Amino acid sequence: MSTRSIGVALLGLGNVGGGVVKLLAENASAIEERLGARLEVRAIAVRDPDKSNRVVSADPSLMSTDLLATACRPDVDVVCELIGGTTLAREAVLAAVSAGKHVVTANKALLAEHGAEVFAAAEAAGVDIYYEAAVCGGVPIIRVLREGLASDRVESITGIVNGTSNYILSTMTATRRPFADILREAQALGYAEADPTLDVGGGDAAHKLAILVGLCFGRVPVEKIATDGIDIVEPIDLEYAAKFGYVIKPLAIARASGPAPDAPVEARVHPALIPQNWLMADVNGAKNAVYVQSYALGPSMYYGAGAGMLPTAMSVVSDMIEIGRNIFARAAGAAKPARPIATERALVPLADIRTRYYLRFGVQDQPGVLGQLMTVLGAHGVSIAQVVQDSASTDPVMVVVLTHEAREGDMRAALAEIDSLAVVRQPARVIRIAS
Ligand code: HSE
Repeated sequence: MSTRSIGVALLGLGNVGGGVVKLLAENASAIEERLGARLEVRAIAVRDPDKSNRVVSADPSLMSTDLLATACRPDVDVVCELIGGTTLAREAVLAAVSAGKHVVTANKALLAEHGAEVFAAAEAAGVDIYYEAAVCGGVPIIRVLREGLASDRVESITGIVNGTSNYILSTMTATRRPFADILREAQALGYAEADPTLDVGGGDAAHKLAILVGLCFGRVPVEKIATDGIDIVEPIDLEYAAKFGYVIKPLAIARASGPAPDAPVEARVHPALIPQNWLMADVNGAKNAVYVQSYALGPSMYYGAGAGMLPTAMSVVSDMIEIGRNIFARAAGAAKPARPIATERALVPLADIRTRYYLRFGVQDQPGVLGQLMTVLGAHGVSIAQVVQDSASTDPVMVVVLTHEAREGDMRAALAEIDSLAVVRQPARVIRIAS
């Protein structure tokens, strides 16, 4: 048994915090062997020390309700922030950093919204911030981008980075069960955020994309990332997508429009049609995957559990081990391995992106309607690749169009005109097609 130890404070003992305690206990000897030291939980900050239904039982003598005092304890080397949110978590992380503690956090909202402040404070204090669990749970995509591909140049990223949205869309595709039922199931399985609108509305994926973009391209304001949730997808869209040979997946996409530092980057989060024969089409349930296109390696893909207690806890504990190694190598805070690029990078305006589109129109079934739709699209430079009209005589009747690549601004202008036509019964449904 090693005589060395690293003191850990856990802020939060929910699903992930409980997983950390469990993993530290169950894998203690392997961790000690790899680190050459023990990771010892010396304090745990909780809201309610008497809470009865915790995922693990922890030593009550370690628990405190004083978040800031726990974050600054002298016997603690690494503070592990697992409370979520951006107010208390920010305060606690900044307090820990100024007390000279290294920090591990799974908090994507904190890093996406306050990353510049948190990393600057860490740099000034000479401590490390590690955040593998903040993006894709157990998939080590942060390590891939900052270490594995450190000598490469990332050109684009296409990811399924929200497990809950993927679980909902893939279960809807396979079973045609209602959205609300499947969301409840994802919540019960511990995948969803405390506020599931962050999952369903794309906000969680936008936070994660901002972090990935920060590592590959530069800092972007998360609120400027164009974000659509999976709630724009109806069961009928999954059926039409299948007829055309596609599935619909919740994607986060970023790509450089040219070389750094001047060329803006495209960053967007939205459900998208992808061809059924893409690897990404087989990423189902709460699994996450990130497909990276880089200059030297070419395409590479990283896949695994993006949410859940043990996968996320695994990333948190691996970060603690890495910090422990840095401490023993006296390198903690000396390098900038985990820090994003500080320079701000401009975003391509949404109107200027070019992609293909799935458009679903609800129109009156009468002669000339199809012609009117096509004429308006054509007048705005949107070229049609495929069209189907529902054979059933429903009112409205569905017309589905797949376009060739078009400029988003032109496509939106065409749709505004189409939506005002007398024969159009409901606003067009627009889902981008990934290419
Ligand atoms: N709510 C998140 C998801 C958990 O569904 O992916 C991991 O960040």
